Amino acid sequence: MTDAVWKFKVVPKERFDDEAARLAIRQLQRKPASVVGLATGDTTNGMHRTLAEKIVQEKIDVSCVSVCNLDEAAGLPDDHPARGISRLKRMLYDPIALKPEQIVCFRGQPDDLEAECRAFEAALARRGGIDLQFVGIGLNGHIAFCEPGMPFHAGCCAVELNAGQREEMRRKFQYASLDDVPTRAMTMGIKSIMHASRVVLLAKGSHKAGIVRAALTGPVTPELPASVLQLHPRLTVLLDDEAAAGMAESK
Ligand code: GLP
Repeated sequence: MTDAVWKFKVVPKERFDDEAARLAIRQLQRKPASVVGLATGDTTNGMHRTLAEKIVQEKIDVSCVSVCNLDEAAGLPDDHPARGISRLKRMLYDPIALKPEQIVCFRGQPDDLEAECRAFEAALARRGGIDLQFVGIGLNGHIAFCEPGMPFHAGCCAVELNAGQREEMRRKFQYASLDDVPTRAMTMGIKSIMHASRVVLLAKGSHKAGIVRAALTGPVTPELPASVLQLHPRLTVLLDDEAAAGMAESK
């Protein structure tokens, strides 16, 4: 028996950022002291800017909210532009005037990455755990920095970045050379993500259609990390029409 409540929504791509932001706002209206986990990447940039605009325009009270980010490359100075936290600060946290104590994040250059992960988990536990976690999906089905093969029981941990991830970072953040791109990262594990009370999977663009279909309609396996979300009792899937194209084919 399961009491799983899945919500599945497909929107035109022009409405995607707005719908995604609205999911966060609804959570804040339901529970102003929510802990909200955010994912950085091309999928969520527009959502974060839209969310900041809506919070300001609609005068949403964010004084009690806590936020955290899903993953972070290691070895970069705290204010490095390629860090997820730098992008989140610029797009969302600064415009809505969040205080440092409302933000749970991995430091850029901790001496001990595993100890940093334990501290991150402890900070979330003190806040009562994550109420709403947003995740994106990589082209090989990764979520956060949980690559194919990572066991489902993994908690927050340090990982080695593979060649594909590092090449993507080099391209996105315009590093002159691959040698300059971080080799390690800290990430929420599958277990940490699955422990969130609600999870929202976001995907947009035709390049995500195949992997979205495989993750949501194929077998649940560590070889496709996002497939584990099929087991989450409160999952919302928000896709733009291009990312949803494969779901229609699967009927
Ligand atoms: C990256 C990040 C994830 C992100 C995902 C999708 O590698 N580690 O946190 O959600 O892949 O990224 P994008 O939205 O840019 O496609």
